[in-house]
Amino acid sequence: MSNIPGYTHGTSSVPRSPVSLTDFEQMKASVLFGEEDVKYLRMSHDIVKGRVEAILDVWYGFVGSQPHLLASFSGKTDGKPLGDYLGLVRRRFGQWILDTSRAQYDQAWLDYQHEIGLRHHRAKKNKTDGAPSTDLVPFRDLFALIFPVTFTLRPFLAEQGHSAEDVEKMSAAWLKSCLLQVTLWAHPYVKDGDF
Ligand code: HEM
Repeated sequence: MSNIPGYTHGTSSVPRSPVSLTDFEQMKASVLFGEEDVKYLRMSHDIVKGRVEAILDVWYGFVGSQPHLLASFSGKTDGKPLGDYLGLVRRRFGQWILDTSRAQYDQAWLDYQHEIGLRHHRAKKNKTDGAPSTDLVPFRDLFALIFPVTFTLRPFLAEQGHSAEDVEKMSAAWLKSCLLQVTLWAHPYVKDGDF
């Protein structure tokens, strides 16, 4: 069990996902995600596991450089960045890098995806860390961040001497995984019955 504050993957406090594993299988097919992607995500695990902090530096640097993004980590009333909140979320984000590269898609994983969606949405944002921040990560930012996250990961995937083909396939697998995950996270943002 992890000792990261607020990381509740696999615990009974995580509600059941409204998306079934069967739905998820179809989502995988829609994004052309297959066994090969699982293999390449797991290949990336050995690379990313030693580079989590460096990857987070890049991603946090990007969010921190854009005031409209940083706003989601800032005080609701004074607009000042909340250092404690940024730091606590960063630890769970680091764990997410490892979880994504493990590519273990069971019910507990699916349920935690829904939880992560709720934590970006007004349903549960701020609750885990007791942060006095804004109510919602706007969906327009959530979805768009898939590109910078995957594009800036690529140099890390290439830095340990893997072939160009392996790097390309790891990168594609990460993109597909992020598309699948952010689609799952979108559930609370989509009108009832329309997901
Ligand atoms: C939380 C990933 C987009 C703001 C998290 C967590 C992860 C994550 C892994 C921690 C989940 C946990 O509690 O275990 C991502 C990924 C994104 C994305 C992969 C896009 C591809 C965004 C965007 C923003 C944002 C665009 C807005 C600037 C936040 C905030 C939290 C959070 C404020 C803390 C939520 C809370 O109060 O619990 N994100 N995120 N995220 N993310 Fe994102």
